Amino acid sequence: MRRLVAETRLHPAELILPAFVSEGITEAKPIASMPGVVQHTRDTLRKAAVEAAEAGVGGIMLFGLPVVKDAVGSEGTNPDGILQQAIRDVVAEVGDQMVVMSDLCLDEFTDHGHCGVLAEDGSVDNDATLARYAEMAVVQAEAGVHMVGPSGMMDGQIGVVRRALDEAGHQDVSILAYTAKYASALYGPFREAVNSSLKGDRKTYQQDPANAREALRELELDLAEGADLVMVKPAMLYLDVLRQVADVSPVPVAAYQISGEYSMVEAAAANGWIERERTILETLTSIRRAGAEQILTYWAVEAAAMLG
Ligand code: PBG
Repeated sequence: MRRLVAETRLHPAELILPAFVSEGITEAKPIASMPGVVQHTRDTLRKAAVEAAEAGVGGIMLFGLPVVKDAVGSEGTNPDGILQQAIRDVVAEVGDQMVVMSDLCLDEFTDHGHCGVLAEDGSVDNDATLARYAEMAVVQAEAGVHMVGPSGMMDGQIGVVRRALDEAGHQDVSILAYTAKYASALYGPFREAVNSSLKGDRKTYQQDPANAREALRELELDLAEGADLVMVKPAMLYLDVLRQVADVSPVPVAAYQISGEYSMVEAAAANGWIERERTILETLTSIRRAGAEQILTYWAVEAAAMLG
């Protein structure tokens, strides 16, 4: 009876696997704060992508970790940089079976760890950063990516990326907008995952957890600028925001179940305090129920297997 009348169902095709690929390593490297998640080599990333495709996962979101970082994140726009190599690898391997996406942000590539370039006073320079994002979008599109994910929360980023892609002949590359991205304490494990150099915080560009109305304004702006999908992030602590966005969005709404959400469940489960698999499915079901139609989750492959 429960199966017959369930209002919310999960399907592997709606899941997106975030994956990290690192330039300087010869074998996959575990991330201590995210048990079960690794920094991939190009080779193990290819295998992980095949595994995800075979499990029926709908998409993969790639994050690249360069050896060399600098103030402007040069490796992010190097056509042979690690992220571009990974895009080419994964598109060649599974591009016909799943949507290949790339993080469009500078924080993995800058030596100060911010999502943008800095002004002389050390603050993040919004408009100078937009020019870098435009360049990055074109380089990623030229590597063959299907969809870019601008995650830096700069004002105007979607419009600038859309225009740059169109002008370079990449009208078919779509945009997953990080629309409502909050300055959350739960990004901690991700910062280990990407060898982050960040010292301060991202409060000058990410949203205040206290505010929901702002998310709707960000939605309007991203839609006007050309977002194909919009996203709320983190997921579990922002289900109300997700619901509000989903109620009015004319385009699909995604949610990112971030590193800290993953690590909290894994840590409690490892202690035997909660039932791991039931909890995983309950979190994903709740995110889906709140209005997300696509979910980025580090459990994508495992959850797909549980659902299959
Ligand atoms: C920024 C970015 C972050 C995440 C995805 N893209 C980190 C941040 O804003 O500090 C976090 C994802 C996670 O915590 O799982 N490029």
